[in-house]
Amino acid sequence: MTGTHLPLGIDIGGSGIKGAPVDLEAGGFAADRIRIETPGRSTPKAVVKIATEIANEFAGVTGDGPVGVTVPAVTSGGTVLSAANIDNAWIGTDAGAMLADALGRPVTLLNDADAAGVAEVRYGAARDTAGTVLVATLGTGIGSALFVDGRLVPNTELGHLEIDGHDAERRASNGAREADDLSWEKWAKRLQRYFRHVEDLLWPDLIVIGGGVSKKADKFLPLLDLRTPIVPAALRNDAGIIGAAWTASQAAGEAV
Ligand code: BGC
Repeated sequence: MTGTHLPLGIDIGGSGIKGAPVDLEAGGFAADRIRIETPGRSTPKAVVKIATEIANEFAGVTGDGPVGVTVPAVTSGGTVLSAANIDNAWIGTDAGAMLADALGRPVTLLNDADAAGVAEVRYGAARDTAGTVLVATLGTGIGSALFVDGRLVPNTELGHLEIDGHDAERRASNGAREADDLSWEKWAKRLQRYFRHVEDLLWPDLIVIGGGVSKKADKFLPLLDLRTPIVPAALRNDAGIIGAAWTASQAAGEAV
């Protein structure tokens, strides 16, 4: 890294907003992460306020360095274009500019699953994997990040495939498992239906499962019968922050 300041990653999720400075050489946090509850009404204004608090906490190590921020939505440039599991007020908002104004630093905004995927490809379970890699995050929704030879195809939104007349994430996300109080076996049946469809469309070389539930992968991955190798994420819930910081650092032209 050329800059003396560490990049900061901030991950905006449905239940928590988390941030940490990232050591890009090690591929890990440079200080303990901070987590603040997402406000009940997660409007851009309320969330930007919390992101600013988090950035201020780490000002000593991150200085005026780049900041990567994830949102659970489609993003283009700094603008948010969808809102499946966040407040609708985000749609059409130039959140990148709002955050850059509030933080006084360059901000790169990206989809949460894309950020997690970037970290898995760069440092984690898909490190150095050639060909087509799909990173799927199983949380409140289903996020997807698609890579071809390490290069991200952004905003794939494969959690919203329609399967058997349902938006796939409403049946197969970890949120659906909890809401419907499913056993691992019952949930695995839904995952099987989902990932078989996905592999029939994309023919990936590897699928990586992210999200907090990936730490319990031994309960459900062995129940799946797929032709594609499927493995748990290595960086789990840290991946979004690490991938966001890496992407922001790249955008700032810093060599890693
Ligand atoms: C959103 C995606 C997001 C995923 C995981 C989906 O509902 O549409 O943009 O990546 O949830 O948070």
